[in-house]
Amino acid sequence: MSKKLFIETLGCAMNVRDSEHMIAELNAHEGYELTDDAASADLILINTCSVREKPVHKLFSELGVFNKLKKADAKIGVCGCTASHLGKEIIKRAPYVNFVLGARNVSKIADVLHRDRAVEVEIDYDESQFAFKDFRSSPYKAYINISIGCDKQCTFCIVPKTRGDEISIPPDLIVAEVRKAVENGAKEVFLLGQNVNNYGRRFSDVNDKMNFTELLRRVSAVEGLERIRFTSPHPFHMDDEFLEEFARNPKICKSMHMPLQSGSTDILKAMKRGYTKEWFLNRARKLRELVPDVSISTDIIVAFPGESDADFEDTLDVMKEVRFEQVFSFKYSPRPLTEAESFTNVVDSELGSFRLSTLQAYQDTILDSISAGLLGKEYDVYFEELRSDGYVAGRSDNNIMIKVKGSEEWLGKIARVKITEVSRSVQYGEIIA
Ligand code: 5AD
Ligand code: SF4
Repeated sequence: MSKKLFIETLGCAMNVRDSEHMIAELNAHEGYELTDDAASADLILINTCSVREKPVHKLFSELGVFNKLKKADAKIGVCGCTASHLGKEIIKRAPYVNFVLGARNVSKIADVLHRDRAVEVEIDYDESQFAFKDFRSSPYKAYINISIGCDKQCTFCIVPKTRGDEISIPPDLIVAEVRKAVENGAKEVFLLGQNVNNYGRRFSDVNDKMNFTELLRRVSAVEGLERIRFTSPHPFHMDDEFLEEFARNPKICKSMHMPLQSGSTDILKAMKRGYTKEWFLNRARKLRELVPDVSISTDIIVAFPGESDADFEDTLDVMKEVRFEQVFSFKYSPRPLTEAESFTNVVDSELGSFRLSTLQAYQDTILDSISAGLLGKEYDVYFEELRSDGYVAGRSDNNIMIKVKGSEEWLGKIARVKITEVSRSVQYGEIIA
């Protein structure tokens, strides 16, 4: 009988892809098959996120639960960003954990499995040329890593300390992955990196040379590929060449993530984001001008140390002008190993919660007006998910999530859909062609 692997994935798309890589390696080298029942698993992995404090607290209570329910000889491994930053501390606090594998050490998964209490968390480990075995949870949704780590030093962010300095994956490897994904049924690929439009910053092989705009051109030349998405780009690196390629290239989906973080130039400076409120607005205006149908999503942090009422108003002001189609908003959470952790001008927690709910209510009014305008519109939808309620779900080129009545026959296909019912987060429609 094959050995069973249970894996829980928290955090971002990078973690989702890292989990797929671990599943593939464990399957190819150790014969593990996936299960969704932790109690019957021979190996339990938690792929963690450390970007905010809450999930880190949750980790230890969850580990306790897994330890109680697991089979007697089953192993537990902690992977991902919290593994990188807590390292052997995890085994100290939860001695039944068999190994700890950092977010930049994914390729060592089959090795640590056999080294009891192994802790592999180096953040300068270079796995940019490692050819992982194949596994995708869905053939239609193909995540493809293009870089590892991050060279920025945003003062709130722990990621450079968990995923290390930025290193770009060789273009040939990326293109080979794209080809493979297309051969296996994907019409769309999702290019992943902490800061994708800084692609080319550093390669393992000094002979490699390419920027993100050039990479987009190369990837879009892959035959059979119809759609390219990517995340996350950084507003600082949104030069005209990049925005123009984004607008011009028909394979690039017209949906852009522009993480604002704050609308106040003073706070942006304290965050070391490298741009001002005006620069951000200038880029968003240019984008809307070049691509009128574009949808723009963003990340915003409220109550960063020193944020005054006027700074918060600046954030609302940017939201009012840009009218983001999607906003992911967070209350600032001090993180270890970051510069802002030692900032003393903290914002009162209740005030932070108040600002967060104010911002979210404000965004809801914007979303209501955006979604009302979608009624009756038509989009080409790429169906990628079967829902249990008799619907299939997919996205328009500009990232509108649309559900239609239907079955798996639609998966992996693109169809013309007319929107018949609207809501804030998901729209309903009918296939018309
Ligand atoms: N506190 C709150 N939110 C954070 N993020 C990153 N670090 C923190 C933090 N310390 C948010 C940012 C980032 C998103 C992935 O998580 O908005 O873009
Ligand atoms: Fe992803 Fe950042 Fe969380 Fe790491 S800390 S899993 S990079 S969101």
